[in-house]
Amino acid sequence: MTTQPSPEYRRIQFLFPVALASLLILGTARIILDNLKNNQSNFLREYLQSRESEKHRVVRLPINISDSEVIEEGCNVFEGKWKWDNKSYPLYTEESCPYLVKQVTCHRNGRPDSVYQNWRWQPRACKLPRFNALKLLEALRGKRLMFVGDSIQRGMFESMVCLVQSVIPDGKKSLKRIPPRKIFTAEEYDASIEYYWAPFLVESISDHATNHTVMKRLVKLDSVAKHSKEWEGADILVFESYVWWRHDPLINATYGYPYNVQEYNVTTAYRLALETWANWIDNRINPNNQKVFFMSMSPTHLWSWEWKPGSDENCFNESRPIQDSSYWGTGSSLDIMETVRDVLGKLKTDVTLLNITQLSEFRKDGHTSSLWGTQRQALDKRTKIRSQNLCGLHSLVFTGSA
Ligand SMILES: *[C@@H]1O[C@H](CO)[C@@H](O)[C@H](O)[C@H]1NC(C)=O
Ligand SMILES: *[C@@H]1O[C@H](CO)[C@@H](O)[C@H](O)[C@H]1NC(C)=O
Ligand SMILES: *[C@@H]1O[C@H](CO)[C@@H](O)[C@H](O)[C@H]1NC(C)=O
Ligand SMILES: *[C@@H]1O[C@H](CO)[C@@H](O)[C@H](O)[C@H]1NC(C)=O
Ligand SMILES: *[C@@H]1O[C@H](CO)[C@@H](O)[C@H](O)[C@H]1NC(C)=O
Ligand SMILES: *[C@@H]1O[C@H](CO)[C@@H](O)[C@H](O)[C@H]1NC(C)=O
Ligand SMILES: *[C@@H]1O[C@H](CO)[C@@H](O)[C@H](O)[C@H]1NC(C)=O
Repeated sequence: MTTQPSPEYRRIQFLFPVALASLLILGTARIILDNLKNNQSNFLREYLQSRESEKHRVVRLPINISDSEVIEEGCNVFEGKWKWDNKSYPLYTEESCPYLVKQVTCHRNGRPDSVYQNWRWQPRACKLPRFNALKLLEALRGKRLMFVGDSIQRGMFESMVCLVQSVIPDGKKSLKRIPPRKIFTAEEYDASIEYYWAPFLVESISDHATNHTVMKRLVKLDSVAKHSKEWEGADILVFESYVWWRHDPLINATYGYPYNVQEYNVTTAYRLALETWANWIDNRINPNNQKVFFMSMSPTHLWSWEWKPGSDENCFNESRPIQDSSYWGTGSSLDIMETVRDVLGKLKTDVTLLNITQLSEFRKDGHTSSLWGTQRQALDKRTKIRSQNLCGLHSLVFTGSA
């Protein structure tokens, strides 16, 4: 017999999606690269021109940036399916990358299989060129790429680092922590890939890099300056914020003067925060030399009945992507999606939406939490609720390592 969780129960379980496993991120990293390359952003072109003028001190690399490798215009790269590809994937392995935090080291945490690494994102209307670390580094020469957001963004950051680090010799790369920032430097390229912890984008009491808990949230919906001064000067910015809002349908927040704390509807609060962010973007981003991305929400996969009617599990032990192209789980809020569309649509600055929600929805097998076999067994012995939370493994480790 199967029952769907009651609304109250689900509210408690609203907890967390999940850092996507690196595989999802591969797709997105490629998309960022490709977007950098496309004519619209003119990014690479500019870079190539600036390189012309600096020829004397540039080492030539065996790269081929031909136009045929640029994604055809008009192709929605976010619409497609995951294709089995054990010939060219994975692009890196967990073991080969020393920069992953424990939370996302799936094998080390006890995941027995590795098939989740062998899926390639295949857009319906075009082909994505294979990821090329040297090209990405060339595109980043002299630049700062910064990921801003919650632990999902940290996963993006780490994956990006893992994707490029193997082509950089030892001694020419480093990872530095200046909380709440992490900075990976590729010395020979004078390039950095950075991460900035800001789970709500705007200011909140959860902004400490490690000492924070989703159980206690207070967001300053109209304040972003403390964070944004760290974002200034980054050449490429990738923003994301979602999970931390979704712990409860209401959230404590302040807006304007006087500083009264009020409970806000999350949809309303999210919009106000995003507008604060958007205001900063329009005032401080120089579209001539800066490029901004906004990444849509990552899904949860907390209830297996969503893809396997009649079951009553979570995504633990899932090993294959969903192939039903219309699948959409309850963890991805359409309200929030609409808010994102709306706020981005009103921006004067060109911000590219990385709409990864659908392609991530398919990857019920991709959650880092589904890999925590041993932890899960330990937790099963405790309350059911806690083990149910596993798909949002963050809730277990939030204070201290998220
Ligand atoms: C670059 O790629 C194009 C198209 O794939 C190919 O025709 C050309 O020969 C390549 N050039 C070099 C130098 O590899
Ligand atoms: C790749 O996948 C195919 C189909 O599942 C399988 O027959 C083949 O053995 C796999 N190759 C490797 C190298 O794992
Ligand atoms: C974490 O933050 C809370 C409140 O912000 C504070 O009371 C506590 O002492 C901090 N803990 C550590 C270990 O810094
Ligand atoms: C808001 O804060 C008050 C006072 O600390 C607390 O009782 C209430 O549960 C909080 N509301 C939410 C939605 O967290
Ligand atoms: C929050 O606002 C949305 C959109 O206005 C509405 O659909 C939803 O019911 C509200 N939720 C709560 C808890 O008030
Ligand atoms: C996980 O799945 C595998 C194969 O699909 C199965 O053999 C195993 O018993 C499952 N483990 C658990 C704990 O459900
Ligand atoms: C993102 O893509 C989904 C379907 O894949 C779509 O429903 C949604 O509206 C898109 N979001 C935006 C903001 O365009």
